[in-house]
Amino acid sequence: MGNNKSKVKRTLSNSSKKHHQNSQYLLSKESESRNLDKEKELTYYLSNHNDEDIDRQHFNHFFRKHIFQNNFSVPIEEGLIQGGCKVLDIGCGPGSWLLDLASKYENSYFFGIDIKPVYPNEIKPKNLEFCEADMFNGLPFPDNEFDFVHQEVMSFIIKADQWNYVISELIRVTKPGGFIEIVEYISPENSGPVLTNVYKTHFDLCLQRGVDMSLIPNLDKIIESHQNISQVHRDERSFIIGPNGGKAGLVIQDIIITFNTSDLATDDISSKKGISKEEYKNMILRDFKNELKITKPKLKVCRFWAQKNA
Ligand SMILES: C[S@@+](CC[C@H](N)C(=O)[O-])C[C@H]1O[C@@H](n2cnc3c(N)ncnc32)[C@H](O)[C@@H]1O
Repeated sequence: MGNNKSKVKRTLSNSSKKHHQNSQYLLSKESESRNLDKEKELTYYLSNHNDEDIDRQHFNHFFRKHIFQNNFSVPIEEGLIQGGCKVLDIGCGPGSWLLDLASKYENSYFFGIDIKPVYPNEIKPKNLEFCEADMFNGLPFPDNEFDFVHQEVMSFIIKADQWNYVISELIRVTKPGGFIEIVEYISPENSGPVLTNVYKTHFDLCLQRGVDMSLIPNLDKIIESHQNISQVHRDERSFIIGPNGGKAGLVIQDIIITFNTSDLATDDISSKKGISKEEYKNMILRDFKNELKITKPKLKVCRFWAQKNA
């Protein structure tokens, strides 16, 4: 009997252990799937190894170069031509900006880091090196190393409570007297209802991850609050998205459409909005395009730049 009782006890305790293990397993599966969801949501903001994504980023680079008629606002061109300058690009993606600069300024040295190695590691100029690294773990370089540190289009990725750390790292690896420049798009003004809806969806999805895009127009104030920086400059350009903005307007229209209609973005955003993929694609490919024919939404791109105190 005693034996039977303890057998029952053992069986019960084994079964409760199993139950506990099962629930632990289910909980860990649940959190794994939540993480996968998060990863999936982030994926279309990261660089992906597909031609469409890489082409879009190259186009985006040449679009911004066209809008500013140059590749940077910091006063370093003479130094780059003379040679010996060291330049770092953080979150360099396929390396469009760096490839452009490294081929033009052959006597200076260029470095790019990205969490995803989508950059061309084999076919590249000799004065350009890429490295796979997560900037949130600290930049893998010593203090006071670079003459110019650049970061472009990361507003979808950096969380509100990470900006100060990121900026402090940019400043740390910059030489005294060197320059930092951060380049970001600022949400459009005068948008019609479809564009407003598309931007609000991204804004809300970002907020769920702790990314607050409403901080971006005030990045100069955030940079200025750091030690070793005295004055932050803003170099801002605006342009109209769509056919009312001429050729440039059509190029940025295409960039926005390809970004929003990638398979990953379509899957994620349509399910978040509770509409079918077809309805979502119609919204972007038909309604958005039609709206742009009769509206003049103004998008801004802003370079925030500063010199590290000598
Ligand atoms: C929108 S893309 C911009 C790429 C490039 N700066 C440009 O303007 O074409 C953002 C880039 O940041 C990279 N990235 C995201 N998180 C990162 C991290 N923690 N550390 C380094 N790079 C990161 C992504 O892989 C992606 O290439």
